[in-house]
Amino acid sequence: MPNQMFSTKPLEVLLRELHGEHRLRRILGPVQLTSLGVGAIIGTGIFVLTGVAAHDKTGPALMLSFVVAGIACIFAALCYAEFAAMVPVAGSAYTYAYATLGELFAWIIGWDLVLEYAVGSATVANGWSHYFQDFIGLFGIKIPEVLSSAPFDYDPTLGHLVSTHTFMNLPAVVITFVLTVILVKGIQESASINAAMVMVKLAVVLFVIVVGAFYVDPANWTRDFAPYGYTGVSFFGKSISGMTDAGGAPLGMMAGAATIFFAYIGFDSVSTHSEEAKNPQRDVPIGIITSLIVCTVLYIAVAAVLTGMVPYNQIDINAPVSKAFETVGLPWAQFIISLGALTGITSVLLVMMLSQPRVMLAMARDGLVPPSFFGAIHDRFRTPWKSTILTGLAVALMSAFLPLRILAELVNIGTLLAFVIVCAAVLVMRKTHPDAHRPFRVPFSPAIPIAGIAICMLLMFSLPVENWYRLIIWLLIGVAIYFFYGRKHSHLQHELEHEIGTHGVSPGGAATIDPMAPPTFPEEPVDGRLHDDEKK
Ligand code: ALA
Repeated sequence: MPNQMFSTKPLEVLLRELHGEHRLRRILGPVQLTSLGVGAIIGTGIFVLTGVAAHDKTGPALMLSFVVAGIACIFAALCYAEFAAMVPVAGSAYTYAYATLGELFAWIIGWDLVLEYAVGSATVANGWSHYFQDFIGLFGIKIPEVLSSAPFDYDPTLGHLVSTHTFMNLPAVVITFVLTVILVKGIQESASINAAMVMVKLAVVLFVIVVGAFYVDPANWTRDFAPYGYTGVSFFGKSISGMTDAGGAPLGMMAGAATIFFAYIGFDSVSTHSEEAKNPQRDVPIGIITSLIVCTVLYIAVAAVLTGMVPYNQIDINAPVSKAFETVGLPWAQFIISLGALTGITSVLLVMMLSQPRVMLAMARDGLVPPSFFGAIHDRFRTPWKSTILTGLAVALMSAFLPLRILAELVNIGTLLAFVIVCAAVLVMRKTHPDAHRPFRVPFSPAIPIAGIAICMLLMFSLPVENWYRLIIWLLIGVAIYFFYGRKHSHLQHELEHEIGTHGVSPGGAATIDPMAPPTFPEEPVDGRLHDDEKK
Protein backbone atom coordinates (compact mmCIF):
# COMPACT_ATOMS: atom_id res chain seq x y z
CA MET A 1 0.00 0.00 0.00
CA PRO A 2 1.74 3.17 -1.09
CA ASN A 3 -0.16 5.42 1.36
CA GLN A 4 -0.43 3.07 4.33
CA MET A 5 2.07 5.10 6.29
CA PHE A 6 -0.26 8.06 6.23
CA SER A 7 -3.57 6.29 6.63
CA THR A 8 -5.34 7.43 9.77
CA LYS A 9 -7.37 5.39 12.16
CA PRO A 10 -10.90 6.72 11.71
CA LEU A 11 -12.37 8.42 14.73
CA GLU A 12 -15.42 6.21 14.43
CA VAL A 13 -13.22 3.11 14.68
CA LEU A 14 -11.63 4.44 17.87
CA LEU A 15 -15.00 5.19 19.37
CA ARG A 16 -16.37 1.82 18.35
CA GLU A 17 -13.46 0.12 20.04
CA LEU A 18 -14.46 1.83 23.26
CA HIS A 19 -17.75 0.01 23.12
CA GLY A 20 -16.03 -3.32 22.76
CA GLU A 21 -15.19 -5.85 25.40
CA HIS A 22 -11.70 -6.66 26.57
CA ARG A 23 -10.99 -3.30 28.13
CA LEU A 24 -9.35 -2.34 31.40
CA ARG A 25 -11.45 -1.74 34.54
CA ARG A 26 -13.18 1.65 34.81
CA ILE A 27 -12.50 2.58 38.40
CA LEU A 28 -10.86 6.03 38.46
CA GLY A 29 -12.72 9.24 39.38
CA PRO A 30 -11.56 12.90 39.06
CA VAL A 31 -9.78 12.97 42.41
CA GLN A 32 -7.91 9.77 41.67
CA LEU A 33 -6.99 11.02 38.20
CA THR A 34 -5.72 14.34 39.56
CA SER A 35 -3.84 12.42 42.19
CA LEU A 36 -2.30 10.19 39.52
CA GLY A 37 -1.30 13.39 37.70
CA VAL A 38 0.32 14.95 40.77
CA GLY A 39 1.78 11.55 41.53
CA ALA A 40 3.45 11.49 38.14
CA ILE A 41 4.58 15.12 38.21
CA ILE A 42 6.25 16.05 41.53
CA GLY A 43 9.41 13.99 41.86
CA THR A 44 12.98 13.90 40.65
CA GLY A 45 12.55 17.11 38.67
CA ILE A 46 11.80 19.35 41.63
CA PHE A 47 13.73 17.43 44.27
CA VAL A 48 16.92 16.76 42.26
CA LEU A 49 17.16 18.54 38.90
CA THR A 50 16.50 21.97 40.41
CA GLY A 51 19.97 21.66 41.93
CA VAL A 52 21.70 20.89 38.64
CA ALA A 53 19.75 23.63 36.85
CA ALA A 54 20.24 26.40 39.42
CA HIS A 55 23.90 25.55 40.05
CA ASP A 56 25.05 25.01 36.47
CA LYS A 57 22.62 26.85 34.20
CA THR A 58 20.39 29.52 35.70
CA GLY A 59 21.08 30.79 39.21
CA PRO A 60 17.95 32.30 40.85
CA ALA A 61 16.45 32.85 37.37
CA LEU A 62 15.40 29.24 37.86
CA MET A 63 12.06 30.69 38.98
CA LEU A 64 11.54 32.06 35.47
CA SER A 65 12.65 28.75 33.98
CA PHE A 66 9.76 27.14 35.83
CA VAL A 67 7.39 29.78 34.49
CA VAL A 68 8.50 29.19 30.87
CA ALA A 69 8.41 25.40 31.09
CA GLY A 70 5.08 25.62 32.92
CA ILE A 71 3.56 27.72 30.12
CA ALA A 72 4.76 25.24 27.49
CA CYS A 73 3.19 22.41 29.48
CA ILE A 74 -0.10 24.20 30.09
CA PHE A 75 -0.50 24.80 26.33
CA ALA A 76 0.33 21.17 25.59
CA ALA A 77 -1.94 20.02 28.44
CA LEU A 78 -4.91 21.84 26.95
CA CYS A 79 -4.29 20.00 23.68
CA TYR A 80 -3.99 16.67 25.49
CA ALA A 81 -7.23 17.41 27.32
CA GLU A 82 -9.11 18.06 24.08
CA PHE A 83 -7.99 14.73 22.70
CA ALA A 84 -8.36 12.79 25.90
CA ALA A 85 -11.98 13.87 26.21
CA MET A 86 -12.65 13.11 22.58
CA VAL A 87 -10.92 9.74 22.33
CA PRO A 88 -10.58 8.41 25.86
CA VAL A 89 -8.54 5.29 25.12
CA ALA A 90 -5.32 4.08 26.71
CA GLY A 91 -2.86 5.09 24.02
CA SER A 92 -2.66 8.83 24.77
CA ALA A 93 -0.65 10.84 22.24
CA TYR A 94 -0.06 7.72 20.20
CA THR A 95 -3.78 7.28 19.57
CA TYR A 96 -4.30 10.97 18.87
CA ALA A 97 -1.60 10.88 16.20
CA TYR A 98 -3.12 7.73 14.70
CA ALA A 99 -6.45 9.47 14.32
CA THR A 100 -4.99 12.57 12.72
CA LEU A 101 -1.52 12.32 11.25
CA GLY A 102 -1.42 8.70 10.13
CA GLU A 103 0.09 5.38 11.08
CA LEU A 104 3.76 6.26 10.64
CA PHE A 105 3.45 9.34 12.85
CA ALA A 106 1.48 7.33 15.37
CA TRP A 107 4.20 4.73 15.47
CA ILE A 108 6.87 7.40 15.82
CA ILE A 109 5.08 9.04 18.71
CA GLY A 110 4.42 5.67 20.38
CA TRP A 111 8.08 4.86 20.06
CA ASP A 112 8.89 8.33 21.34
CA LEU A 113 6.67 7.78 24.37
CA VAL A 114 8.94 4.90 25.32
CA LEU A 115 11.57 7.59 25.80
CA GLU A 116 9.23 9.51 28.01
CA TYR A 117 7.97 6.69 30.16
CA ALA A 118 10.63 3.97 30.18
CA VAL A 119 13.70 6.21 30.02
CA GLY A 120 11.82 8.66 32.26
CA SER A 121 11.33 5.88 34.82
CA ALA A 122 15.05 5.16 34.73
CA THR A 123 15.74 8.86 35.36
CA VAL A 124 13.33 8.93 38.26
CA ALA A 125 14.74 5.71 39.75
CA ASN A 126 18.13 7.41 39.59
CA GLY A 127 16.80 10.46 41.45
CA TRP A 128 15.19 8.13 44.00
CA SER A 129 18.57 6.61 44.64
CA HIS A 130 20.07 10.07 45.40
CA TYR A 131 17.49 10.76 48.09
CA PHE A 132 17.61 7.22 49.40
CA GLN A 133 21.32 7.56 49.97
CA ASP A 134 20.80 11.00 51.51
CA PHE A 135 18.16 9.52 53.82
CA ILE A 136 20.07 6.48 55.04
CA GLY A 137 23.11 8.74 55.37
CA LEU A 138 21.22 10.51 58.20
CA PHE A 139 21.52 7.25 60.13
CA GLY A 140 25.16 6.83 59.27
CA ILE A 141 24.49 4.07 56.72
CA LYS A 142 26.36 4.17 53.44
CA ILE A 143 26.00 2.05 50.33
CA PRO A 144 29.37 0.74 49.08
CA GLU A 145 30.73 3.35 46.68
CA VAL A 146 30.84 0.94 43.73
CA LEU A 147 27.11 0.31 44.01
CA SER A 148 26.07 3.93 44.56
CA SER A 149 25.84 5.43 41.05
CA ALA A 150 26.24 4.91 37.31
CA PRO A 151 29.83 4.28 36.19
CA PHE A 152 30.15 7.63 34.37
CA ASP A 153 28.69 11.15 34.38
CA TYR A 154 28.84 14.44 32.45
CA ASP A 155 31.12 17.10 33.89
CA PRO A 156 29.99 20.57 32.71
CA THR A 157 33.29 22.20 33.69
CA LEU A 158 35.21 19.80 31.46
CA GLY A 159 32.45 19.47 28.89
CA HIS A 160 32.71 15.68 28.56
CA LEU A 161 31.88 12.39 30.28
CA VAL A 162 34.06 11.29 33.18
CA SER A 163 34.36 8.02 35.09
CA THR A 164 32.76 7.97 38.55
CA HIS A 165 34.82 4.91 39.57
CA THR A 166 31.68 3.01 40.43
CA PHE A 167 30.01 -0.02 38.90
CA MET A 168 26.24 0.48 39.09
CA ASN A 169 23.36 2.21 40.85
CA LEU A 170 21.99 -0.58 43.04
CA PRO A 171 19.24 1.31 44.94
CA ALA A 172 17.69 2.34 41.60
CA VAL A 173 17.54 -1.29 40.52
CA VAL A 174 15.96 -2.42 43.79
CA ILE A 175 13.15 0.18 43.75
CA THR A 176 12.40 -0.65 40.12
CA PHE A 177 12.06 -4.31 40.99
CA VAL A 178 9.71 -3.65 43.93
CA LEU A 179 7.43 -1.40 41.88
CA THR A 180 7.29 -3.85 39.00
CA VAL A 181 5.86 -6.46 41.36
CA ILE A 182 3.24 -3.98 42.67
CA LEU A 183 2.26 -3.01 39.12
CA VAL A 184 1.81 -6.54 37.93
CA LYS A 185 -0.62 -7.03 40.82
CA GLY A 186 -3.01 -4.33 39.63
CA ILE A 187 -4.08 -0.73 39.23
CA GLN A 188 -6.60 -0.62 42.09
CA GLU A 189 -3.86 -1.29 44.60
CA SER A 190 -1.52 0.99 42.70
CA ALA A 191 -3.98 3.90 42.71
CA SER A 192 -4.53 3.76 46.45
CA ILE A 193 -0.83 3.43 47.25
CA ASN A 194 -0.30 6.37 44.91
CA ALA A 195 -2.92 8.51 46.66
CA ALA A 196 -1.22 8.01 50.03
CA MET A 197 2.18 8.89 48.59
CA VAL A 198 0.80 12.00 46.91
CA MET A 199 -0.53 13.29 50.24
CA VAL A 200 2.87 12.86 51.83
CA LYS A 201 4.75 14.64 49.08
CA LEU A 202 2.32 17.53 48.88
CA ALA A 203 2.72 18.00 52.62
CA VAL A 204 6.51 18.01 52.26
CA VAL A 205 6.49 20.45 49.35
CA LEU A 206 4.27 22.81 51.35
CA PHE A 207 6.59 22.38 54.32
CA VAL A 208 9.57 23.35 52.14
CA ILE A 209 7.76 26.46 50.90
CA VAL A 210 6.36 27.64 54.23
CA VAL A 211 9.32 26.85 56.51
CA GLY A 212 11.91 27.68 53.85
CA ALA A 213 10.36 31.12 53.33
CA PHE A 214 11.57 32.13 56.82
CA TYR A 215 15.14 31.42 55.82
CA VAL A 216 15.18 33.26 52.51
CA ASP A 217 17.84 35.93 52.20
CA PRO A 218 16.69 38.23 49.36
CA ALA A 219 20.34 39.11 48.72
CA ASN A 220 20.73 35.63 47.23
CA TRP A 221 18.27 36.67 44.54
CA THR A 222 19.36 40.23 43.95
CA ARG A 223 23.14 39.68 44.03
CA ASP A 224 23.16 37.81 40.77
CA PHE A 225 19.70 36.90 39.54
CA ALA A 226 20.63 35.47 36.16
CA PRO A 227 24.39 34.74 36.22
CA TYR A 228 24.15 32.78 32.97
CA GLY A 229 21.73 35.16 31.24
CA TYR A 230 18.12 34.83 30.21
CA THR A 231 18.49 32.74 27.07
CA GLY A 232 20.54 29.67 26.11
CA VAL A 233 19.44 28.47 22.69
CA SER A 234 21.54 26.66 20.10
CA PHE A 235 20.94 25.08 16.74
CA PHE A 236 22.76 21.79 16.23
CA GLY A 237 25.76 22.86 18.26
CA LYS A 238 25.81 26.50 17.04
CA SER A 239 24.95 28.89 19.83
CA ILE A 240 22.18 31.23 18.68
CA SER A 241 21.76 33.12 21.90
CA GLY A 242 23.43 33.04 25.30
CA MET A 243 26.43 31.45 26.96
CA THR A 244 27.64 27.85 26.61
CA ASP A 245 29.59 25.52 28.91
CA ALA A 246 32.97 23.95 28.17
CA GLY A 247 31.27 21.30 26.04
CA GLY A 248 29.20 23.80 24.05
CA ALA A 249 25.92 23.09 25.91
CA PRO A 250 23.62 26.14 26.18
CA LEU A 251 23.46 27.97 29.53
CA GLY A 252 20.91 30.46 30.83
CA MET A 253 17.28 30.73 31.86
CA MET A 254 15.92 28.98 28.73
CA ALA A 255 18.52 26.21 28.99
CA GLY A 256 17.46 25.78 32.61
CA ALA A 257 13.82 25.61 31.51
CA ALA A 258 14.74 22.82 29.10
CA THR A 259 16.36 20.91 31.98
CA ILE A 260 13.68 21.36 34.61
CA PHE A 261 11.00 20.68 32.00
CA PHE A 262 11.45 17.15 33.32
CA ALA A 263 9.75 18.25 36.53
CA TYR A 264 6.48 18.79 34.64
CA ILE A 265 6.44 15.53 32.78
CA GLY A 266 3.70 13.26 33.93
CA PHE A 267 0.48 15.23 33.52
CA ASP A 268 0.06 13.57 30.16
CA SER A 269 0.13 10.16 31.80
CA VAL A 270 -3.35 10.95 33.14
CA SER A 271 -4.53 10.55 29.56
CA THR A 272 -3.06 7.06 29.38
CA HIS A 273 -5.50 6.14 32.14
CA SER A 274 -8.51 7.39 30.18
CA GLU A 275 -9.65 3.87 29.65
CA GLU A 276 -9.73 3.27 33.36
CA ALA A 277 -11.67 6.47 34.08
CA LYS A 278 -15.33 6.24 35.11
CA ASN A 279 -16.28 9.39 33.21
CA PRO A 280 -13.28 10.09 30.99
CA GLN A 281 -14.73 12.97 28.99
CA ARG A 282 -15.17 15.15 32.03
CA ASP A 283 -12.67 13.77 34.48
CA VAL A 284 -9.57 13.31 32.33
CA PRO A 285 -9.38 17.01 31.30
CA ILE A 286 -9.99 17.92 34.96
CA GLY A 287 -7.21 15.55 36.05
CA ILE A 288 -4.71 16.80 33.49
CA ILE A 289 -5.24 20.52 33.98
CA THR A 290 -5.74 20.58 37.75
CA SER A 291 -2.64 18.51 38.44
CA LEU A 292 -0.52 20.68 36.16
CA ILE A 293 -1.70 23.99 37.59
CA VAL A 294 -1.18 22.84 41.18
CA CYS A 295 2.35 21.70 40.37
CA THR A 296 3.29 24.85 38.43
CA VAL A 297 2.42 27.07 41.37
CA LEU A 298 4.26 24.85 43.84
CA TYR A 299 7.35 24.62 41.64
CA ILE A 300 7.76 28.34 41.20
CA ALA A 301 7.48 28.73 44.97
CA VAL A 302 10.02 25.95 45.66
CA ALA A 303 12.47 27.44 43.14
CA ALA A 304 12.11 30.84 44.80
CA VAL A 305 12.66 29.42 48.28
CA LEU A 306 15.59 27.22 47.29
CA THR A 307 17.51 29.95 45.46
CA GLY A 308 16.66 32.38 48.27
CA MET A 309 17.94 30.07 51.01
CA VAL A 310 21.30 29.18 49.46
CA PRO A 311 23.58 31.14 47.08
CA TYR A 312 23.05 29.48 43.71
CA ASN A 313 26.64 28.31 43.38
CA GLN A 314 26.43 26.50 46.72
CA ILE A 315 23.26 24.58 45.92
CA ASP A 316 23.82 20.82 46.18
CA ILE A 317 23.30 18.99 42.91
CA ASN A 318 22.36 15.60 44.38
CA ALA A 319 19.77 16.35 47.06
CA PRO A 320 19.39 20.15 46.77
CA VAL A 321 16.19 20.66 48.74
CA SER A 322 17.11 18.67 51.82
CA LYS A 323 20.69 19.97 51.80
CA ALA A 324 19.39 23.57 51.69
CA PHE A 325 17.70 22.99 55.05
CA GLU A 326 20.87 21.51 56.45
CA THR A 327 22.77 24.57 55.21
CA VAL A 328 20.48 26.99 57.08
CA GLY A 329 20.86 24.97 60.27
CA LEU A 330 17.74 22.79 60.23
CA PRO A 331 19.09 19.24 60.07
CA TRP A 332 15.83 17.82 61.51
CA ALA A 333 14.03 19.23 58.46
CA GLN A 334 16.44 17.31 56.29
CA PHE A 335 14.95 14.11 57.67
CA ILE A 336 11.38 15.13 56.84
CA ILE A 337 12.32 16.35 53.36
CA SER A 338 14.37 13.32 52.40
CA LEU A 339 11.59 11.02 53.52
CA GLY A 340 8.99 13.08 51.64
CA ALA A 341 11.13 13.31 48.52
CA LEU A 342 11.66 9.60 48.61
CA THR A 343 7.94 8.97 48.90
CA GLY A 344 7.15 11.52 46.22
CA ILE A 345 9.67 10.17 43.78
CA THR A 346 8.36 6.65 44.39
CA SER A 347 4.89 7.73 43.34
CA VAL A 348 6.29 9.26 40.13
CA LEU A 349 8.04 6.04 39.33
CA LEU A 350 4.88 4.10 40.00
CA VAL A 351 2.78 6.16 37.59
CA MET A 352 5.44 6.27 34.88
CA MET A 353 5.98 2.54 34.99
CA LEU A 354 2.23 2.12 34.93
CA SER A 355 1.91 4.26 31.80
CA GLN A 356 4.52 2.61 29.61
CA PRO A 357 2.82 -0.80 29.26
CA ARG A 358 -0.50 0.94 28.54
CA VAL A 359 0.91 2.74 25.54
CA MET A 360 2.32 -0.56 24.31
CA LEU A 361 -1.10 -2.14 24.91
CA ALA A 362 -2.70 0.41 22.60
CA MET A 363 -0.04 -0.28 19.98
CA ALA A 364 -0.49 -4.03 20.35
CA ARG A 365 -4.24 -3.68 19.80
CA ASP A 366 -3.40 -2.02 16.50
CA GLY A 367 -0.97 -4.76 15.56
CA LEU A 368 2.04 -2.44 15.47
CA VAL A 369 3.85 -4.48 18.15
CA PRO A 370 3.28 -8.20 18.81
CA PRO A 371 -0.13 -8.47 20.55
CA SER A 372 0.64 -11.87 22.06
CA PHE A 373 3.24 -10.17 24.22
CA PHE A 374 2.38 -6.49 24.56
CA GLY A 375 -1.37 -7.06 24.49
CA ALA A 376 -1.40 -9.91 27.01
CA ILE A 377 -3.60 -9.02 29.97
CA HIS A 378 -3.31 -11.12 33.10
CA ASP A 379 -6.39 -13.29 33.68
CA ARG A 380 -6.72 -12.47 37.36
CA PHE A 381 -4.98 -9.13 37.84
CA ARG A 382 -6.20 -7.65 34.53
CA THR A 383 -2.91 -5.87 33.99
CA PRO A 384 -0.65 -5.89 30.94
CA TRP A 385 1.75 -8.04 32.92
CA LYS A 386 4.23 -9.19 30.32
CA SER A 387 5.05 -5.72 29.10
CA THR A 388 5.08 -4.45 32.71
CA ILE A 389 7.83 -6.95 33.48
CA LEU A 390 9.73 -6.04 30.32
CA THR A 391 9.45 -2.36 31.25
CA GLY A 392 10.80 -3.17 34.71
CA LEU A 393 13.80 -4.96 33.25
CA ALA A 394 14.61 -2.16 30.81
CA VAL A 395 14.24 0.52 33.49
CA ALA A 396 16.44 -1.40 35.92
CA LEU A 397 19.17 -1.79 33.32
CA MET A 398 19.17 1.86 32.28
CA SER A 399 19.00 3.23 35.80
CA ALA A 400 21.84 0.96 36.87
CA PHE A 401 24.30 2.17 34.26
CA LEU A 402 23.28 5.60 32.92
CA PRO A 403 23.67 8.92 34.77
CA LEU A 404 20.76 11.17 35.73
CA ARG A 405 21.57 14.19 33.55
CA ILE A 406 21.90 12.21 30.36
CA LEU A 407 18.73 10.24 31.01
CA ALA A 408 16.76 13.39 31.92
CA GLU A 409 17.80 15.33 28.82
CA LEU A 410 16.92 12.43 26.55
CA VAL A 411 13.50 12.15 28.17
CA ASN A 412 12.95 15.89 27.83
CA ILE A 413 13.67 16.03 24.13
CA GLY A 414 11.48 12.99 23.47
CA THR A 415 8.59 14.36 25.51
CA LEU A 416 8.87 17.81 23.94
CA LEU A 417 8.59 16.16 20.53
CA ALA A 418 5.48 14.31 21.69
CA PHE A 419 3.99 17.62 22.87
CA VAL A 420 4.76 19.26 19.52
CA ILE A 421 3.00 16.43 17.70
CA VAL A 422 -0.05 16.52 19.99
CA CYS A 423 -0.41 20.30 19.53
CA ALA A 424 -0.14 19.82 15.76
CA ALA A 425 -2.63 16.96 15.88
CA VAL A 426 -5.24 19.21 17.52
CA LEU A 427 -4.91 21.62 14.60
CA VAL A 428 -5.22 18.78 12.07
CA MET A 429 -8.21 17.25 13.85
CA ARG A 430 -10.04 20.58 13.96
CA LYS A 431 -9.69 20.71 10.16
CA THR A 432 -10.48 17.08 9.36
CA HIS A 433 -13.26 16.56 11.94
CA PRO A 434 -14.62 20.05 12.63
CA ASP A 435 -17.95 18.72 13.90
CA ALA A 436 -16.81 15.77 16.00
CA HIS A 437 -18.05 15.76 19.58
CA ARG A 438 -15.51 17.63 21.71
CA PRO A 439 -16.47 17.58 25.39
CA PHE A 440 -13.44 19.80 26.01
CA ARG A 441 -12.02 22.36 23.55
CA VAL A 442 -8.65 24.13 23.66
CA PRO A 443 -9.50 27.80 24.11
CA PHE A 444 -8.17 30.36 21.61
CA SER A 445 -7.34 27.72 19.02
CA PRO A 446 -5.31 27.89 16.81
CA ALA A 447 -3.26 30.41 18.83
CA ILE A 448 -2.64 28.11 21.82
CA PRO A 449 -1.66 24.97 19.88
CA ILE A 450 0.65 27.06 17.66
CA ALA A 451 2.22 28.76 20.69
CA GLY A 452 2.61 25.32 22.30
CA ILE A 453 4.50 24.05 19.24
CA ALA A 454 6.73 27.15 19.22
CA ILE A 455 7.69 27.06 22.91
CA CYS A 456 8.29 23.30 22.92
CA MET A 457 10.53 23.61 19.85
CA LEU A 458 12.47 26.41 21.50
CA LEU A 459 13.02 24.25 24.56
CA MET A 460 14.24 21.40 22.35
CA PHE A 461 16.84 23.78 20.94
CA SER A 462 17.85 24.78 24.45
CA LEU A 463 19.06 21.26 25.21
CA PRO A 464 22.65 20.15 24.50
CA VAL A 465 23.01 19.06 20.87
CA GLU A 466 23.84 15.41 21.69
CA ASN A 467 20.21 14.99 22.59
CA TRP A 468 19.16 15.77 19.07
CA TYR A 469 21.49 13.08 17.77
CA ARG A 470 20.26 10.59 20.35
CA LEU A 471 16.66 11.41 19.48
CA ILE A 472 17.31 11.00 15.77
CA ILE A 473 19.04 7.64 16.28
CA TRP A 474 16.18 6.50 18.50
CA LEU A 475 13.61 7.52 15.91
CA LEU A 476 15.55 5.82 13.10
CA ILE A 477 15.57 2.56 15.08
CA GLY A 478 11.83 3.02 15.55
CA VAL A 479 11.20 3.62 11.86
CA ALA A 480 13.21 0.48 11.03
CA ILE A 481 11.05 -1.56 13.41
CA TYR A 482 7.95 -0.11 11.81
CA PHE A 483 9.04 -1.14 8.34
CA PHE A 484 10.09 -4.61 9.43
CA TYR A 485 7.16 -5.36 11.72
CA GLY A 486 4.39 -2.80 12.25
CA ARG A 487 3.66 -2.03 8.65
CA LYS A 488 3.06 -5.68 7.82
CA HIS A 489 0.97 -6.47 10.89
CA SER A 490 -1.08 -3.30 11.16
CA HIS A 491 -4.73 -4.14 11.88
CA LEU A 492 -5.87 -0.82 10.49
CA GLN A 493 -4.63 -1.74 7.10
CA HIS A 494 -6.55 -5.00 7.12
CA GLU A 495 -9.65 -3.35 8.49
CA LEU A 496 -9.61 -0.53 6.01
CA GLU A 497 -9.05 -2.88 3.10
CA HIS A 498 -11.48 -5.60 4.02
CA GLU A 499 -14.18 -3.96 6.07
CA ILE A 500 -14.71 -0.24 5.98
CA GLY A 501 -13.22 0.39 2.56
CA THR A 502 -15.18 -2.39 0.86
CA HIS A 503 -18.47 -2.62 2.74
CA GLY A 504 -18.70 0.54 4.78
CA VAL A 505 -19.40 -1.48 7.94
CA SER A 506 -17.32 -2.11 10.96
CA PRO A 507 -15.52 -5.41 11.61
CA GLY A 508 -17.65 -8.15 13.08
CA GLY A 509 -20.75 -6.34 11.92
CA ALA A 510 -20.86 -4.10 15.02
CA ALA A 511 -23.25 -1.18 14.90
CA THR A 512 -21.90 1.92 13.22
CA ILE A 513 -21.03 4.66 15.71
CA ASP A 514 -21.82 8.27 15.08
CA PRO A 515 -18.54 10.14 15.63
CA MET A 516 -20.44 13.24 16.61
CA ALA A 517 -22.27 11.55 19.45
CA PRO A 518 -20.69 11.16 22.88
CA PRO A 519 -19.63 7.57 23.49
CA THR A 520 -20.88 5.63 26.51
CA PHE A 521 -18.78 3.26 28.54
CA PRO A 522 -19.31 -0.16 30.02
CA GLU A 523 -18.93 -0.26 33.81
CA GLU A 524 -16.93 -3.46 34.02
CA PRO A 525 -14.86 -5.35 31.49
CA VAL A 526 -16.37 -8.58 30.32
CA ASP A 527 -13.06 -10.20 29.76
CA GLY A 528 -9.45 -9.17 30.18
CA ARG A 529 -8.09 -11.04 27.22
CA LEU A 530 -7.60 -10.05 23.65
CA HIS A 531 -9.78 -11.19 20.80
CA ASP A 532 -8.70 -14.50 19.34
CA ASP A 533 -7.89 -12.86 16.05
CA GLU A 534 -5.46 -10.59 17.85
CA LYS A 535 -3.51 -13.55 19.15
CA LYS A 536 -0.80 -14.52 16.80
N1 ALA B 1 7.96 15.03 36.56
C1 ALA B 1 8.51 13.84 37.04
C2 ALA B 1 9.61 14.09 38.00
O1 ALA B 1 9.92 15.21 38.29
C3 ALA B 1 8.92 12.95 35.93
O2 ALA B 1 10.21 13.20 38.52
